[in-house]
Amino acid sequence: MQLRPEIRLLLNDRIVTRARLGATETLLDFLRLDQRLRGTKEGCAEGDCGACTVLVGRLGPDGLVYEPVNACIRFLASCDGCHVVTVEHLRGADGGLHPVQRAMVEHHGSQCGFCTPGFVMALYALWMANPHPSEAQLERALQGNLCRCTGYAPIIRAGLAMGGYGTTDPLIAERAQVSAQLQAWQDGARVDVADGESRAILPASVDDLARVLAEHPEARIIAGATDVGLWVTKFLRDLPLAVFIGHLDGLRGITETDDALHIGAMVSYSQAYGPLMAEFPHMARYWDRIAGWQVRSMGTLGGNIANGSPIGDTPPPFIALGARLVLRQGEARRELPLEEFFLDYGKQDRRAGEFVESIILPKPAPDTLHAAYKISKRRDEDISAVAAGFAVTVQGGAIAGARLAFGGMAATPKRAAQAEAALIGQPFALESLQAAADALRDDFTPLSDMRASAAYRMRAAQNLLIRFWHESQGTPAMLEDAS
Ligand SMILES: Cc1cc2nc3c(=O)[nH]c(=O)nc-3n(C[C@H](O)[C@H](O)[C@H](O)COP(=O)(O)OP(=O)(O)OC[C@H]3O[C@@H](n4cnc5c(N)ncnc54)[C@H](O)[C@@H]3O)c2cc1C
Ligand code: FES
Ligand code: FES
Repeated sequence: MQLRPEIRLLLNDRIVTRARLGATETLLDFLRLDQRLRGTKEGCAEGDCGACTVLVGRLGPDGLVYEPVNACIRFLASCDGCHVVTVEHLRGADGGLHPVQRAMVEHHGSQCGFCTPGFVMALYALWMANPHPSEAQLERALQGNLCRCTGYAPIIRAGLAMGGYGTTDPLIAERAQVSAQLQAWQDGARVDVADGESRAILPASVDDLARVLAEHPEARIIAGATDVGLWVTKFLRDLPLAVFIGHLDGLRGITETDDALHIGAMVSYSQAYGPLMAEFPHMARYWDRIAGWQVRSMGTLGGNIANGSPIGDTPPPFIALGARLVLRQGEARRELPLEEFFLDYGKQDRRAGEFVESIILPKPAPDTLHAAYKISKRRDEDISAVAAGFAVTVQGGAIAGARLAFGGMAATPKRAAQAEAALIGQPFALESLQAAADALRDDFTPLSDMRASAAYRMRAAQNLLIRFWHESQGTPAMLEDAS
């Protein structure tokens, strides 16, 4: 096995290598403190405001793909073999202002300017993919960017106009060159770097990951770092040994069989969107309400499940669909229904040295109605107070099967066994859904916290069942914002 004792990346137009590097050095600190690239700002340091947005280009099976990420919670070690693009690198085809920058200037998209580099980078990522976006596409792309001074209308106007200032730039022109550089770096080596007490390992492959975890079961796996990043920036936690998995293409695949989608643990929210919505269109609106674009580019489905959070957004709809989890320890694999993975608050059925390898989502059964709902204080970029996934099979007017899963109602994401039992065998009618809503009181004793009171959570969960029935009758969504 080849070992490499350094990371290397392309930073704008320069090659950077680092041998002395711990697991917790953030990309933002590296840019601002080490490289003195201070165009990238620090606002919240928790992935919420977008001031630190940069692009990370990575060579994968689909070629070189640039995505916007929050540098504040992205660890530098995870940028090995990538192209990091900061706002300083932007320029137009003529060497002057970039089309996105010109649009921001001419449409008065900036006042104090603190948020501006982050907006420009998020708009740049969108411009690269689609220089003439619609207003809806712009709103989705900017969900992860906060502005306190300018207000969003001029920024949206700039976004609508940006394609008119040009559709190419030096980065696009140099794409083949950058791809060749990143390709040349793909040496199949295991990377092992450290700084003092903190060590980072990037396994050479998924098999190598299994070996590393067998040797170091105490190591912390880092996927997208959208949870772990905050442990470091907000709770100042040390990570003596971290194993990074973001570069492993073997964990990023989505394959389709006749009856299921098999989704690698490292598939991000953004990457999952297309294949997932093709099979499960009822989740489209729900998915758009998970975090903002930067976090959706980084955060993974495996991480959202493995963290065991009672308010993670993927478990409720996935449990309703009958998802199964594939766990791997060394060479051994086991499969279990997703709901059985969550044992108790902060406790999952994951053995030492074991990792989530993939998630299996069975395709929708015939005669089955689906829904996914998220209730949160803000429409965008907010954590759920209550989340729900429903799959109800109706045959000949009667309910033949029901899977109702909730987040935010218990210490773990959980099925509502009593409510499901109240539905089975009953006619598919409002009265049956009302009986199931009553039975939810036997399933859950929710907590009160800053997101919602126990009473609110219960009422909201009950009302979602009623809403589900009305929507199944063709009644349009009653609460457009709480889809
Ligand atoms: C601004 C912001 C907004 C957010 N909004 C939402 C939201 O709307 N809804 C929501 O559900 N979440 C949200 N989150 C939380 C977060 O994005 C998710 O939980 C994310 O899916 C975690 O995935 P990750 O790859 O970033 O995990 P990481 O942070 O890398 O890891 C999380 C945990 O899972 C473990 N882990 C990761 N991958 C594996 C694996 N393959 N096998 C075993 N263990 C593993 C890690 O060791 C760690 O304990 C938000 C986070 C931020 C910062
Ligand atoms: S500093 Fe706010 S998202 Fe990074
Ligand atoms: S211009 Fe001041 S925060 Fe946006």
